[in-house]
Amino acid sequence: MSLSTLTAPPFSIAPSAAPVICIVGARPNYMKVAPIIKAFAAHNPPIPTLLVHTGQHYDPAMKDRLFADLDLPEPDVNLAVGSGSHAVQTAEVMKRFEPVIDQHGARAVLVVGDVNSTLACALVASKRHIPVVHVESGLRSYDRRMPEEINRILTDQLSDVLYTTERSAHDNLAREGIPDERAVFVGNVMIDSLRASLPKAVPAAELLAAAGLDARRIASGYGVVTLHRPSNVDSADTLGPIIDALREVSQALPLIVALHPRTRNNLERFGMLDRLDGDGFLILPPQGYLEMLGLMSGARLVLTDSGGIQEETTALGVPCVTIRENTERPITVEQGTNTLVGIAPEAIVAAARTILATGGKAGRIPEYWDGHTAERIAAHLYDWLDAQASAEPQAARV
Ligand code: UD1
Repeated sequence: MSLSTLTAPPFSIAPSAAPVICIVGARPNYMKVAPIIKAFAAHNPPIPTLLVHTGQHYDPAMKDRLFADLDLPEPDVNLAVGSGSHAVQTAEVMKRFEPVIDQHGARAVLVVGDVNSTLACALVASKRHIPVVHVESGLRSYDRRMPEEINRILTDQLSDVLYTTERSAHDNLAREGIPDERAVFVGNVMIDSLRASLPKAVPAAELLAAAGLDARRIASGYGVVTLHRPSNVDSADTLGPIIDALREVSQALPLIVALHPRTRNNLERFGMLDRLDGDGFLILPPQGYLEMLGLMSGARLVLTDSGGIQEETTALGVPCVTIRENTERPITVEQGTNTLVGIAPEAIVAAARTILATGGKAGRIPEYWDGHTAERIAAHLYDWLDAQASAEPQAARV
C-alpha cells in the first residue's frame, strides 16, 4: 500500500448544498432529532437537512403520534425496514440507506442514541467516507449483553464528531482510544424537547379519562411504569418476579403502565398478562410524547428500565427507580433523582417504599441540560463542516 493511499483525504467532501442526513429509527430518537432539525433550519445560514426514517418502529403509537407531538416534519425518506433479528434489521437498514446517499448526496450523516438504526447508518456513511456525527456519544453501561452497548461502542468508533450529554462520557471515549478533540460536550438535546413541550403536556387525569379509565383512582397520587429491555422482559423467569414486585408496589400506590409492544407480546406468550389485572394497575398502550410528559411530571415516582426516562425524570425532578443492574447515564444517579436498584423484587419494593415515605432524592439539573443543546450543536457543526470544506484542497494534495 502506498503512503498516498494511507493518507488519502478522510472524507468525500460534498457540495455545501448537500444535506446533513439526519436519521431516526425508533421511538427514543425522535425527541433528540426534532430540536436538531429546528436548530439547523434556524441557523444563519441554515444547514440543509434530509430526514430519513429507517422504519425500525412503524406502529402509529411508536411513530406517527410522536412525530406530531414533536412537530417533526414527515420524513423525506422512509426505509420501511420493520422488525427482525438484530442482524436482519441492521443489514436491511444498511442495504436501504446506501442508495439514499447516492441519490441525495450528504455533507454528513447525523445519528442519535444507540438503536440498531444508529449503528447501521453510521457504518454505511463511514464506508462511503462521509463524516459521521453522533449525538449522545460516550455513554457506557459496560454491559455488552445489551444490544445498545454494542451499538454505542461501534458508532462512537466510526464517528468523526461526537456530541456528549455528560462529562463522564469523555473518560469513556478516552478509554477506547477516541481522541478528545473529536468529542464536544454540548449537553442533553432530549431536554430541549422536554422543556419546549412541557407546557403542552397532557395531564394524567385527562389521559386516563380519554382512555376510558377512572381518573378518581389516581386522586391521591400515582406511579408510572415503563419496561421494555430485553434483559428484563424476554424471559419469564426475570419478568415474573419484576411484575410481582410491581404488584406489591401497586397496593400502596396505583401504577399507570404504558405497555411497550415487546413487553405485551411477552406477557401474552408467558401467560402473565392477567397479573397486571386488578385495582392497583391502569394499563395503557404506548403513549405519545406529550402524554408521557404529563404522566411523568405528575407522578410520585417512576419505575423504568428506559435510558431516556432516567434523564427525563432527573430533568423533571421526579424520583425514578431504575430496574436494571447498571446505567449508562450515571449523572442521573450522582446528581439527579435516579436510584439504580437492580432487578431483585425486594430491592424494587424497598426503593419504592422509601420514596413514598421520604419523597425521594431532590436532585439537581445537570450542567447544560438547559434546553439550548441543539443550538450548540448547530453552531459547532456548521463551523466544523466549513473547516472540512476549506481543508479539502490541502488534504487532497497529501
Ligand atoms: C428498540 C431499541 C431500544 C429502545 C427501544 C424503544 C435496539 C437494539 N433497541 O427496542 O434501544 O430503547 O427501541 O422502544 O435498537 N414492535 C411493534 N411495533 C413497532 C416496533 C416494534 O410491535 O413499531 C415489536 C415487534 O414485535 C418487535 C419488537 O417490538 O419485534 C421489538 O422491536 P425492536 O425495534 O426490535 O426493538 P425494541 O424492543 O423496540
